[in-house]
Amino acid sequence: MAAPSLEAVVALAKRRGFVFQSSEIYGGLNGVWDFGPMGVELLRNLKEVWWQAMTQREDIEGLDAAILMHPRVWEASGHVEQFSDPMVDNKVSKMRYRADTLIEDFIERLRNTGREQEAHYWEERLRQATEPRDYYRIIVEAQIPDPVSGTREWTEVRHFNLMFKTFFGPVEDTSSIVYLRPETAQGIYVNFLNVLQSSRQKIPFGIAQIGKAFRNEVTTKNFLFRTREFEQMEMQYFVKPGTEQQWFDYWLQERYRWYRALGIPEERLRIKPHEKLAHYASAAVDIEFLFPFGWGELEGIHSRTDFDLRRHQEYSGKRLEYVDPVTRERYIPYVVETSAGATRSFLAFLCNAYDEEDIPADRGTRETRTVLRLHPALAPVKVAVFPLVNREGMPEVARKLYEELRRHLRAEYDDSGAIGRRYRRQDEIGTPFCVTVDGQTLQDETVTIRDRDTMEQIRLPLCRVLEYVRERVRPPLG
Ligand code: GAP
Repeated sequence: MAAPSLEAVVALAKRRGFVFQSSEIYGGLNGVWDFGPMGVELLRNLKEVWWQAMTQREDIEGLDAAILMHPRVWEASGHVEQFSDPMVDNKVSKMRYRADTLIEDFIERLRNTGREQEAHYWEERLRQATEPRDYYRIIVEAQIPDPVSGTREWTEVRHFNLMFKTFFGPVEDTSSIVYLRPETAQGIYVNFLNVLQSSRQKIPFGIAQIGKAFRNEVTTKNFLFRTREFEQMEMQYFVKPGTEQQWFDYWLQERYRWYRALGIPEERLRIKPHEKLAHYASAAVDIEFLFPFGWGELEGIHSRTDFDLRRHQEYSGKRLEYVDPVTRERYIPYVVETSAGATRSFLAFLCNAYDEEDIPADRGTRETRTVLRLHPALAPVKVAVFPLVNREGMPEVARKLYEELRRHLRAEYDDSGAIGRRYRRQDEIGTPFCVTVDGQTLQDETVTIRDRDTMEQIRLPLCRVLEYVRERVRPPLG
């Protein structure tokens, strides 16, 4: 299966109601997207499969913390001071870039034109850059042109904090500033004691959460990949200091296995260690997916030491320690984090599932079938029911079956157009099974059930359809 173009995926997403541009009738809002009827089902299924894998086990509790948090949280976490990107403007085109991305794109252009040695030199310089002035020097010394205007007239590089600010309550002054959370993780740290005391967990244990996060990204790109409003699925696992490497390895393996179990092939997944560690991390790797535009991070696995709990202890004045019930040893736990993007994974699963194949059509011709080969647990619609023709009692039987199925799973009823066209409509949204009520059904109470991927059909008693579909759309756990 060849990788599709991003344009083909975006077009299907719009055409079939997966994703729409936010506020489209007003010209759209950059970096913000809405999930349509099919998209909302896929996203909910994706989150549900993650939730089950993470919380249907003894050692993990769930949480749903509020998006708005006390502003001191973000001082303690380091986000007020450090959560920024280096930003540069071109004075002629007025285009704004992330300085590191501008340099990376320049390096790639060098490489594509065979200037490997130069590419290597600037790559090393970029790797060592930490301050705005380091990026500025590279841009000036390498004489990087603006991709839009071709000019080399740049402003200084400045830090740009990515947190959205808003005002809490009726007074709009600096004392009422709160932030839209840029990650869900902090809601877990500040609730560590609450969860510990209200559950019967002992270390090691984890807290999982799914929720919206907001980042005022300097540039957004590649559809759902980098957006300003997105959703995360994060789990923080609290461990005894000294055991963090073992848990880091465990969770990396578990999370990699999860993507594989949901149908992402080995050749489109890779594990990449971070070159620069975030301010909180002692070890970090990304699980990356091969998107149509290249490799991109899906999920980070981070060993965060006791950085977060220690800082919240310091800033809040509340002890965030764990007392071992057997040894009475007292310590601040270390944290291993699994941090996945729900909306970014949505894009990965969509790209991974998208396929076009050439198949025989009527009278010796051929046609292109667009099919979403989604794992059945992720598919928005699990089963579609068709009467072969709209007469001879077939619609009545088909309707009855549909009414029974829809009480248990997401089903569709379709009686319009040729049967081949109905199959194509379901293929495009990834429906794994299509059931057809035909002449034989009226005689022996069997129906055909067609498999989306192989297009093969078998006959099944009407009364076994629900059980057949239900067994095959079950999410893989773990
Ligand atoms: N708590 C750690 C944390 O937030 P991160 O690497 O900044 O780590 C984790 O983000 C995941 O969130 C990423 O792997 C990605 O899937 C998703 N993510 C981050 N920024 C995003 C954005 N602007 N748009 C979509 N997804 C994003």
